[in-house]
Amino acid sequence: MNAKIITLPGDGIGPEVTAEAVRALNGIAAKFSHHFEFEEHFIGGCAIDATGTPLAEATLDACRNANAVLLGAVGGPKWDRGEVRPEQGLLGLRKGLGLYANLRPVKPHSALAHASPLRADKLAGVDFIVVRELTGGLYFGKPQGRFDQDGHKRAIDTLEYTDVEIRRIVDLACRMASARRARVTSVDKANVLASSKLWREIATQTALAYSAVTLDHLLVDTCAMRLVVAPASFDVIVTENMFGDILTDEAAVLVGSMGLLPSASLGAGALGVYEPIHGSAPDIAGKGIANPIGAILSAAMLLRHSLNLPREAEMIERAVDRALSDGCRTADIAQAGERVLSTQAMADAIIERM
Ligand code: IPM
Ligand code: MG
Repeated sequence: MNAKIITLPGDGIGPEVTAEAVRALNGIAAKFSHHFEFEEHFIGGCAIDATGTPLAEATLDACRNANAVLLGAVGGPKWDRGEVRPEQGLLGLRKGLGLYANLRPVKPHSALAHASPLRADKLAGVDFIVVRELTGGLYFGKPQGRFDQDGHKRAIDTLEYTDVEIRRIVDLACRMASARRARVTSVDKANVLASSKLWREIATQTALAYSAVTLDHLLVDTCAMRLVVAPASFDVIVTENMFGDILTDEAAVLVGSMGLLPSASLGAGALGVYEPIHGSAPDIAGKGIANPIGAILSAAMLLRHSLNLPREAEMIERAVDRALSDGCRTADIAQAGERVLSTQAMADAIIERM
Protein backbone atom coordinates (compact mmCIF):
# COMPACT_ATOMS: atom_id res chain seq x y z
CA MET A 1 0.00 0.00 0.00
CA ASN A 2 0.98 3.65 -0.40
CA ALA A 3 0.76 5.94 2.60
CA LYS A 4 1.76 9.47 3.40
CA ILE A 5 3.04 9.95 6.92
CA ILE A 6 3.79 13.34 8.46
CA THR A 7 6.57 13.32 11.02
CA LEU A 8 6.57 15.96 13.76
CA PRO A 9 9.76 15.17 15.72
CA GLY A 10 9.44 18.26 17.94
CA ASP A 11 11.84 19.01 20.77
CA GLY A 12 14.38 17.37 23.08
CA ILE A 13 14.66 13.62 22.49
CA GLY A 14 11.68 13.79 20.08
CA PRO A 15 13.84 13.86 16.91
CA GLU A 16 16.09 11.01 18.17
CA VAL A 17 13.28 8.57 18.90
CA THR A 18 11.19 9.58 15.87
CA ALA A 19 14.11 8.83 13.56
CA GLU A 20 14.21 5.26 14.93
CA ALA A 21 10.46 4.81 14.53
CA VAL A 22 10.81 5.92 10.90
CA ARG A 23 13.58 3.35 10.41
CA ALA A 24 11.31 0.63 11.81
CA LEU A 25 8.52 1.70 9.42
CA ASN A 26 10.96 1.65 6.50
CA GLY A 27 11.94 -1.86 7.53
CA ILE A 28 8.28 -2.89 7.39
CA ALA A 29 7.80 -1.15 4.04
CA ALA A 30 10.73 -3.08 2.54
CA LYS A 31 9.53 -6.44 3.89
CA PHE A 32 5.90 -6.07 2.77
CA SER A 33 6.48 -3.97 -0.37
CA HIS A 34 4.60 -0.97 0.97
CA HIS A 35 5.51 2.55 0.02
CA PHE A 36 5.58 5.02 2.91
CA GLU A 37 6.30 8.64 2.05
CA PHE A 38 7.49 10.76 4.97
CA GLU A 39 7.25 14.54 5.23
CA GLU A 40 8.72 16.37 8.22
CA HIS A 41 7.24 19.50 9.84
CA PHE A 42 7.88 21.58 12.95
CA ILE A 43 5.81 21.41 16.11
CA GLY A 44 6.30 22.81 19.63
CA GLY A 45 9.36 24.78 20.65
CA CYS A 46 11.26 24.29 17.40
CA ALA A 47 8.18 25.57 15.55
CA ILE A 48 8.07 28.66 17.78
CA ASP A 49 11.73 29.30 16.94
CA ALA A 50 11.20 28.78 13.21
CA THR A 51 7.79 30.38 12.65
CA GLY A 52 6.73 32.15 15.84
CA THR A 53 3.88 29.72 16.47
CA PRO A 54 3.93 26.19 17.96
CA LEU A 55 1.70 24.82 15.18
CA ALA A 56 1.53 26.56 11.82
CA GLU A 57 -1.72 26.34 9.86
CA ALA A 58 0.26 24.79 6.97
CA THR A 59 1.44 21.99 9.30
CA LEU A 60 -2.12 21.25 10.38
CA ASP A 61 -3.18 21.18 6.71
CA ALA A 62 -0.37 18.79 5.83
CA CYS A 63 -1.55 16.48 8.64
CA ARG A 64 -5.16 16.67 7.43
CA ASN A 65 -4.03 15.53 3.99
CA ALA A 66 -1.91 12.62 5.23
CA ASN A 67 -2.77 9.07 6.31
CA ALA A 68 -1.11 9.37 9.69
CA VAL A 69 1.10 11.55 11.88
CA LEU A 70 4.11 10.35 13.86
CA LEU A 71 5.04 12.73 16.68
CA GLY A 72 8.08 12.86 18.97
CA ALA A 73 7.70 15.20 21.93
CA VAL A 74 7.30 18.92 22.60
CA GLY A 75 8.57 21.38 25.19
CA GLY A 76 11.67 22.28 27.12
CA PRO A 77 13.06 24.86 29.57
CA LYS A 78 13.99 27.18 26.69
CA TRP A 79 10.32 27.99 26.04
CA ASP A 80 9.00 27.86 29.63
CA ARG A 81 8.81 31.61 30.10
CA GLY A 82 7.44 32.56 26.71
CA GLU A 83 3.98 33.90 25.90
CA VAL A 84 3.19 30.92 23.70
CA ARG A 85 4.07 27.46 24.94
CA PRO A 86 5.14 24.44 22.87
CA GLU A 87 2.34 22.38 24.47
CA GLN A 88 -0.23 24.58 22.71
CA GLY A 89 1.01 23.05 19.46
CA LEU A 90 0.15 19.56 20.69
CA LEU A 91 -3.26 20.59 22.01
CA GLY A 92 -3.97 22.49 18.77
CA LEU A 93 -3.05 19.43 16.73
CA ARG A 94 -5.37 17.14 18.71
CA LYS A 95 -8.23 19.63 18.57
CA GLY A 96 -7.59 20.67 14.97
CA LEU A 97 -7.69 17.08 13.74
CA GLY A 98 -10.67 16.16 15.95
CA LEU A 99 -8.73 13.41 17.74
CA TYR A 100 -11.04 12.86 20.67
CA ALA A 101 -9.69 9.48 21.79
CA ASN A 102 -6.27 8.82 23.23
CA LEU A 103 -5.38 5.13 23.62
CA ARG A 104 -2.61 4.23 26.03
CA PRO A 105 -2.01 0.49 26.42
CA VAL A 106 -0.15 -0.69 29.51
CA LYS A 107 1.34 -4.18 29.58
CA PRO A 108 4.53 -4.78 31.57
CA HIS A 109 7.19 -7.08 30.09
CA SER A 110 8.12 -9.91 32.44
CA ALA A 111 11.85 -9.38 31.77
CA LEU A 112 11.58 -5.83 33.16
CA ALA A 113 9.96 -6.60 36.50
CA HIS A 114 13.13 -5.29 38.19
CA ALA A 115 12.56 -1.82 36.70
CA SER A 116 9.08 -1.46 38.18
CA PRO A 117 8.57 -0.02 41.67
CA LEU A 118 5.84 -2.64 42.17
CA ARG A 119 6.55 -6.20 43.32
CA ALA A 120 6.57 -8.77 40.53
CA ASP A 121 3.52 -10.56 41.99
CA LYS A 122 1.48 -7.34 41.71
CA LEU A 123 2.47 -6.99 38.06
CA ALA A 124 1.43 -10.51 37.06
CA GLY A 125 -1.46 -10.36 34.60
CA VAL A 126 -1.42 -6.56 34.18
CA ASP A 127 -2.76 -5.75 30.71
CA PHE A 128 -5.04 -2.76 30.38
CA ILE A 129 -5.65 0.19 28.11
CA VAL A 130 -6.57 3.71 29.12
CA VAL A 131 -8.99 5.48 26.78
CA ARG A 132 -8.51 9.14 27.59
CA GLU A 133 -10.96 11.76 26.25
CA LEU A 134 -8.68 14.20 24.42
CA THR A 135 -10.52 17.20 22.97
CA GLY A 136 -12.82 18.26 25.79
CA GLY A 137 -12.92 18.47 29.56
CA LEU A 138 -10.72 20.66 31.70
CA TYR A 139 -8.15 21.26 28.94
CA PHE A 140 -10.57 22.96 26.58
CA GLY A 141 -13.59 24.28 28.56
CA LYS A 142 -14.43 27.99 28.28
CA PRO A 143 -14.02 30.35 30.05
CA GLN A 144 -10.33 29.69 30.43
CA GLY A 145 -7.62 32.18 31.17
CA ARG A 146 -6.48 34.98 33.44
CA PHE A 147 -8.52 38.01 34.33
CA ASP A 148 -8.12 41.02 36.52
CA GLN A 149 -11.20 41.65 38.60
CA ASP A 150 -11.85 43.95 41.56
CA GLY A 151 -8.13 44.54 41.96
CA HIS A 152 -7.34 40.81 42.13
CA LYS A 153 -5.76 38.42 39.69
CA ARG A 154 -8.07 35.59 38.74
CA ALA A 155 -7.60 32.45 36.68
CA ILE A 156 -10.29 30.08 35.45
CA ASP A 157 -10.45 26.64 33.90
CA THR A 158 -13.75 25.04 33.05
CA LEU A 159 -14.64 21.35 33.01
CA GLU A 160 -17.47 20.92 30.54
CA TYR A 161 -18.78 17.92 28.64
CA THR A 162 -21.75 17.34 26.39
CA ASP A 163 -23.61 14.03 26.18
CA VAL A 164 -22.30 13.62 22.61
CA GLU A 165 -18.65 13.89 23.72
CA ILE A 166 -19.15 11.40 26.54
CA ARG A 167 -21.11 8.94 24.42
CA ARG A 168 -18.58 8.70 21.61
CA ILE A 169 -15.61 8.06 23.91
CA VAL A 170 -17.43 5.52 26.10
CA ASP A 171 -18.70 3.86 22.94
CA LEU A 172 -15.12 3.47 21.72
CA ALA A 173 -14.08 2.06 25.10
CA CYS A 174 -16.92 -0.50 24.94
CA ARG A 175 -15.93 -1.53 21.41
CA MET A 176 -12.33 -2.00 22.52
CA ALA A 177 -13.42 -3.99 25.56
CA SER A 178 -15.53 -6.26 23.33
CA ALA A 179 -12.31 -7.41 21.65
CA ARG A 180 -10.55 -7.84 25.02
CA ARG A 181 -11.77 -9.04 28.43
CA ALA A 182 -15.08 -7.16 28.16
CA ARG A 183 -14.63 -4.95 31.23
CA VAL A 184 -14.87 -1.18 31.16
CA THR A 185 -14.06 0.98 34.17
CA SER A 186 -15.39 4.50 33.78
CA VAL A 187 -13.48 6.91 35.99
CA ASP A 188 -15.00 10.15 37.26
CA LYS A 189 -15.51 12.32 40.35
CA ALA A 190 -19.28 11.98 40.47
CA ASN A 191 -19.42 12.57 44.23
CA VAL A 192 -18.38 16.19 43.60
CA LEU A 193 -18.48 17.33 39.96
CA ALA A 194 -21.58 18.01 37.87
CA SER A 195 -19.72 17.08 34.70
CA SER A 196 -18.87 13.72 36.29
CA LYS A 197 -22.50 13.07 37.22
CA LEU A 198 -23.42 13.53 33.57
CA TRP A 199 -20.44 11.40 32.55
CA ARG A 200 -21.61 8.54 34.78
CA GLU A 201 -25.20 8.79 33.54
CA ILE A 202 -24.24 8.77 29.85
CA ALA A 203 -21.61 6.06 30.34
CA THR A 204 -24.24 3.81 31.93
CA GLN A 205 -26.68 4.44 29.04
CA THR A 206 -24.00 3.90 26.40
CA ALA A 207 -22.82 0.59 27.81
CA LEU A 208 -26.38 -0.83 27.65
CA ALA A 209 -25.84 -1.40 23.93
CA TYR A 210 -23.00 -3.81 24.77
CA SER A 211 -24.60 -6.71 26.59
CA ALA A 212 -21.34 -8.67 26.81
CA VAL A 213 -19.45 -5.76 28.38
CA THR A 214 -19.46 -5.16 32.13
CA LEU A 215 -19.23 -1.48 33.07
CA ASP A 216 -18.24 -0.29 36.49
CA HIS A 217 -17.58 3.18 37.84
CA LEU A 218 -14.67 4.28 39.95
CA LEU A 219 -13.90 7.64 41.51
CA VAL A 220 -10.65 9.04 40.18
CA ASP A 221 -8.92 9.09 43.57
CA THR A 222 -9.86 5.46 44.18
CA CYS A 223 -8.64 4.61 40.69
CA ALA A 224 -5.27 6.21 41.41
CA MET A 225 -4.98 3.96 44.42
CA ARG A 226 -6.23 0.80 42.68
CA LEU A 227 -3.68 1.30 39.89
CA VAL A 228 -0.89 0.53 42.33
CA VAL A 229 -2.74 -1.85 44.65
CA ALA A 230 -4.48 -4.04 42.07
CA PRO A 231 -3.45 -3.03 38.53
CA ALA A 232 -4.29 -6.47 37.14
CA SER A 233 -7.98 -5.83 37.89
CA PHE A 234 -8.33 -3.39 34.95
CA ASP A 235 -9.14 -4.10 31.32
CA VAL A 236 -10.32 -0.83 29.70
CA ILE A 237 -10.32 2.45 31.64
CA VAL A 238 -12.22 5.37 30.12
CA THR A 239 -11.99 8.88 31.55
CA GLU A 240 -11.95 12.66 31.28
CA ASN A 241 -9.03 14.44 29.61
CA MET A 242 -7.05 15.57 32.67
CA PHE A 243 -7.90 12.55 34.83
CA GLY A 244 -6.52 10.47 31.94
CA ASP A 245 -3.39 12.60 31.72
CA ILE A 246 -2.61 12.02 35.39
CA LEU A 247 -3.59 8.35 35.54
CA THR A 248 -1.53 7.44 32.46
CA ASP A 249 1.68 8.87 33.94
CA GLU A 250 0.97 6.81 37.03
CA ALA A 251 0.23 3.72 34.93
CA ALA A 252 3.43 4.21 32.94
CA VAL A 253 5.48 3.76 36.09
CA LEU A 254 4.14 0.21 36.44
CA VAL A 255 5.95 -1.01 33.31
CA GLY A 256 9.29 0.28 34.56
CA SER A 257 9.95 3.27 32.31
CA MET A 258 8.05 6.08 30.62
CA GLY A 259 10.25 5.33 27.62
CA LEU A 260 8.41 2.12 26.82
CA LEU A 261 4.84 3.21 26.22
CA PRO A 262 3.16 4.20 22.96
CA SER A 263 -0.08 6.06 22.34
CA ALA A 264 -2.56 6.64 19.57
CA SER A 265 -4.87 9.63 19.24
CA LEU A 266 -7.87 8.89 17.04
CA GLY A 267 -10.95 10.65 15.72
CA ALA A 268 -13.88 9.74 13.54
CA GLY A 269 -11.82 8.65 10.52
CA ALA A 270 -8.62 6.66 9.99
CA LEU A 271 -6.26 9.61 10.53
CA GLY A 272 -4.39 9.44 13.82
CA VAL A 273 -1.46 10.95 15.69
CA TYR A 274 0.97 8.45 17.20
CA GLU A 275 3.43 9.43 19.89
CA PRO A 276 5.35 7.90 22.76
CA ILE A 277 3.82 8.97 26.06
CA HIS A 278 7.12 10.32 27.40
CA GLY A 279 8.03 13.98 27.14
CA SER A 280 10.97 15.76 25.51
CA ALA A 281 13.38 14.84 28.36
CA PRO A 282 15.69 17.84 27.81
CA ASP A 283 18.15 16.47 30.39
CA ILE A 284 19.13 13.57 28.11
CA ALA A 285 18.46 15.18 24.71
CA GLY A 286 21.23 14.85 22.13
CA LYS A 287 23.05 12.11 24.04
CA GLY A 288 21.72 9.19 22.02
CA ILE A 289 20.59 7.34 25.15
CA ALA A 290 16.81 7.75 25.02
CA ASN A 291 14.69 4.63 24.82
CA PRO A 292 13.17 4.42 21.31
CA ILE A 293 10.67 1.67 22.23
CA GLY A 294 7.75 4.02 23.03
CA ALA A 295 8.18 5.66 19.62
CA ILE A 296 8.64 2.35 17.78
CA LEU A 297 5.55 0.85 19.41
CA SER A 298 3.67 4.03 18.44
CA ALA A 299 4.66 3.29 14.84
CA ALA A 300 3.14 -0.17 15.31
CA MET A 301 -0.10 1.44 16.51
CA LEU A 302 0.01 3.67 13.42
CA LEU A 303 0.17 0.60 11.19
CA ARG A 304 -2.75 -1.00 13.00
CA HIS A 305 -5.12 1.93 13.44
CA SER A 306 -4.48 4.31 10.53
CA LEU A 307 -3.20 1.95 7.81
CA ASN A 308 -5.16 -1.15 8.80
CA LEU A 309 -2.02 -3.32 8.70
CA PRO A 310 -2.34 -5.53 11.80
CA ARG A 311 0.19 -8.15 10.65
CA GLU A 312 2.83 -5.50 10.16
CA ALA A 313 2.00 -3.97 13.57
CA GLU A 314 2.41 -7.35 15.23
CA MET A 315 5.75 -7.87 13.57
CA ILE A 316 7.09 -4.73 15.27
CA GLU A 317 5.47 -5.58 18.60
CA ARG A 318 6.88 -9.09 18.59
CA ALA A 319 10.33 -7.82 17.68
CA VAL A 320 10.25 -5.39 20.64
CA ASP A 321 9.10 -8.20 22.89
CA ARG A 322 11.91 -10.46 21.75
CA ALA A 323 14.57 -7.75 22.02
CA LEU A 324 13.56 -7.22 25.67
CA SER A 325 13.45 -10.98 26.35
CA ASP A 326 16.92 -11.26 24.82
CA GLY A 327 18.25 -8.72 27.31
CA CYS A 328 18.53 -5.63 25.09
CA ARG A 329 18.48 -2.60 27.40
CA THR A 330 18.68 1.15 27.11
CA ALA A 331 19.90 3.04 30.20
CA ASP A 332 16.40 3.64 31.63
CA ILE A 333 15.66 -0.09 31.96
CA ALA A 334 19.12 -1.54 32.60
CA GLN A 335 20.18 -3.13 35.87
CA ALA A 336 23.63 -2.59 37.34
CA GLY A 337 26.20 -4.49 35.28
CA GLU A 338 23.99 -4.93 32.21
CA ARG A 339 25.28 -3.79 28.83
CA VAL A 340 23.56 -0.53 27.88
CA LEU A 341 22.52 0.13 24.28
CA SER A 342 22.27 3.52 22.62
CA THR A 343 18.97 4.71 21.10
CA GLN A 344 20.17 3.60 17.70
CA ALA A 345 21.55 0.25 18.83
CA MET A 346 18.26 -0.59 20.56
CA ALA A 347 16.38 0.22 17.35
CA ASP A 348 18.86 -1.94 15.39
CA ALA A 349 18.23 -4.80 17.79
CA ILE A 350 14.47 -4.48 17.20
CA ILE A 351 14.73 -4.11 13.41
CA GLU A 352 17.01 -7.17 13.21
CA ARG A 353 14.32 -9.18 14.96
CA MET A 354 11.52 -8.10 12.65
C1 IPM B 1 0.48 14.09 27.46
C2 IPM B 1 1.18 15.35 27.86
C3 IPM B 1 0.41 16.54 27.31
C4 IPM B 1 -0.97 16.51 27.93
C5 IPM B 1 1.07 17.91 27.54
C6 IPM B 1 2.48 17.94 26.97
C7 IPM B 1 0.24 19.03 27.00
O1 IPM B 1 1.33 15.42 29.23
O2 IPM B 1 0.34 13.85 26.24
O3 IPM B 1 0.07 13.34 28.34
O4 IPM B 1 -1.16 16.99 29.04
O5 IPM B 1 -1.89 16.00 27.28
MG1 MG C 1 0.70 13.67 30.23
